[in-house]
Amino acid sequence: MPNIIKNEDILKFLKKKSGFVSGAKIAAALGVTRAAVWKKIKQLKKTGYVIEASRSKGYRLTGAPDFSIDEIKNFLSGRTALIGREIIFFDTVDSTNAVAAELAAKGCIEGTAVIADGQTAGRGRRGRAWVSPPGKNLHMSVVLTPDIPPSDASLLTLMAAVACASAVKKLLPLTVSIKWPNDLIVSGKKLGGILTEIKADMDRIFHSIVGIGVNINLDACDMPEEIRPTATSIKRETGKSYPRTEFAAGILEELDRWYAVLLNSGKSPVIGEWLRLSSTIGRAVKVASGSNTFAGIAEGITDEGMLILKLPDNSLKKISAGDVVYI
Ligand code: BTN
Repeated sequence: MPNIIKNEDILKFLKKKSGFVSGAKIAAALGVTRAAVWKKIKQLKKTGYVIEASRSKGYRLTGAPDFSIDEIKNFLSGRTALIGREIIFFDTVDSTNAVAAELAAKGCIEGTAVIADGQTAGRGRRGRAWVSPPGKNLHMSVVLTPDIPPSDASLLTLMAAVACASAVKKLLPLTVSIKWPNDLIVSGKKLGGILTEIKADMDRIFHSIVGIGVNINLDACDMPEEIRPTATSIKRETGKSYPRTEFAAGILEELDRWYAVLLNSGKSPVIGEWLRLSSTIGRAVKVASGSNTFAGIAEGITDEGMLILKLPDNSLKKISAGDVVYI
């Protein structure tokens, strides 16, 4: 049976050195024919790679698309065990969370990641829309099927917030913190957020979709006026565009690490790291939850991820969902 080669197999060769690589050499190393290599090269060119072809010298990569499935796989190459085992990439979808939920309902493998260049109906927490123009940001949803009770589902959000903040810290010279429950904050503004949606009955989670949105190359002029004062992006903070491919791979890697920590070592390391990265605890805050707003001091979080608020009369109130404003 002929060997089946993947785009990323060819890319590995082309990226190894800056000069030409002969088609015969690639074909021999992968155990395929030169025609099969050429076929893959043509496919890669269609997806935005710029590859020079010379009869005598072979192939040379001179340009890669800014954001593509092959680039993400290339960056990730084996750095994760579970998250991103399957990656599905779209130019445009309504919402990656909606697509991931459909795939999960059909039984896709755990760790499947749905990534889109842009979304037409990106959703945020509490029924809000999420600004998702094409060519700018990261929109990614990951399917998880943890064996945890539905009451612990918020831990997935905390875990994802820890993973995203860790990835930002690893990749960029930015001081990032987490605002309860899941806002990524840089310079006091929102860089990204997480929307976790679950399908569950009383006893078990069938699947959970962890949706991650991070503003990467969004300029202030791309932001609707109402979010401009409170939102930021990596480009706004650093003054430079950042490659989304590297960022997506970095997030997948940290998600893989922190999800394994949650499954293997339980809640406490995740909660511990969340507390270390959080800017909420100890602060005077206002929390809008349902139709109520509570003001007080954020004292901590419970084992299920609820915010513990100390009210002016010194009583403690646990809040399971809401929006925090620092006062
Ligand atoms: C928030 O409101 O803070 C959460 C925003 C989550 C947005 C992401 S973008 C990828 C995924 N798909 C969606 O429709 N929403 C999430």
